[in-house]
Amino acid sequence: MNKKGLVIQLTGLSGAGKTTLSNAVEGYFKENNIRIAIVDGDVYRQHLCADLGFSKADRIENINRLGKHADSLADENEVVLIAAINPYNEARKKLKEIYNAHLIYINSDLDTLIQRDTKGLYKKAMLPDDNPNKINHFTGISDPFDIPIEADLVIDTAKLGIVKSSELLCDYIVNELNTKKLFDSFLIELDQLIKFILNNTSSEENMKVLSKKKHYLMNVFSLGLLEFYEVVYQFSENTTLIFDWLLQQNGKLELVHKIKTYNNLVDNKEVDSKYFNKIITDEQYNFWEENGYIQLSGLIDENECDKVVTYIC
Ligand code: ADX
Repeated sequence: MNKKGLVIQLTGLSGAGKTTLSNAVEGYFKENNIRIAIVDGDVYRQHLCADLGFSKADRIENINRLGKHADSLADENEVVLIAAINPYNEARKKLKEIYNAHLIYINSDLDTLIQRDTKGLYKKAMLPDDNPNKINHFTGISDPFDIPIEADLVIDTAKLGIVKSSELLCDYIVNELNTKKLFDSFLIELDQLIKFILNNTSSEENMKVLSKKKHYLMNVFSLGLLEFYEVVYQFSENTTLIFDWLLQQNGKLELVHKIKTYNNLVDNKEVDSKYFNKIITDEQYNFWEENGYIQLSGLIDENECDKVVTYIC
């Protein structure tokens, strides 16, 4: 089970607001007792990455190291934010693949950045070539910045301002944290149910509860028992792989709704009929469990029924 925190990689030009937004989010989360760590490019370039420059290879190495460090911080923290320019799609993609790091593009148009120029770096980057103070290979001016192709969220700080942008970032992370909690607890539940479905043994008391849960699970995910067995064996009973299969089949949003429906059913709460159709009553279900058959009335027209009886007779 994944007990690690969320790793989130920001990307954006210098001055777009990555550090400012990270600090705002850090303040809010600490106030609310959510453990958070910030891995800021500018800070880590002074120690962990002090040997690196700004060539493509060095920038990619920089992000690799920040990613690895963020991953280790995710053992102790619920959220780790990487705030670096992170200009290449290939480096961002790698962090997504290895650490499941979400990608958030902190955008701002270049004119605003040049105007703001809080660190005076744009001015230096735009000096004539022969000026000894000129900064060469400056991102966005004389060095590339890939527009992110698979960002989970884009925040335009020039349009929204810092307060609204921080709120957006906070909301996104809180939402993702809740989803992660939901998924983590469902993984434990799924693991228990798979064991039960395969072995069909447990204490008398538990059997009833588990059998009901199995019924809810199959129903909410519209799975037949045979199909479920096939999936379970295909992934060698590995719960995480089975969960990934469900995720792929349903998509993230739909999976969240279905898990919530399942949880509500288990807790005897109201559920959205879009995700659960109660075709038979609890009484009928219990009868089915005990006797292996049920009588469903009102499904066939009485005349049609008589015709069948006559035909058989
Ligand atoms: S990254 O491209 O490797 O992700 P990182 O975020 O660590 O960059 O560092 C960027 C910071 O280094 C900028 O905010 C700026 O303060 C400073 N810097 C110095 N030279 C450059 C440059 N050529 N391009 C971009 N940033 C630079």
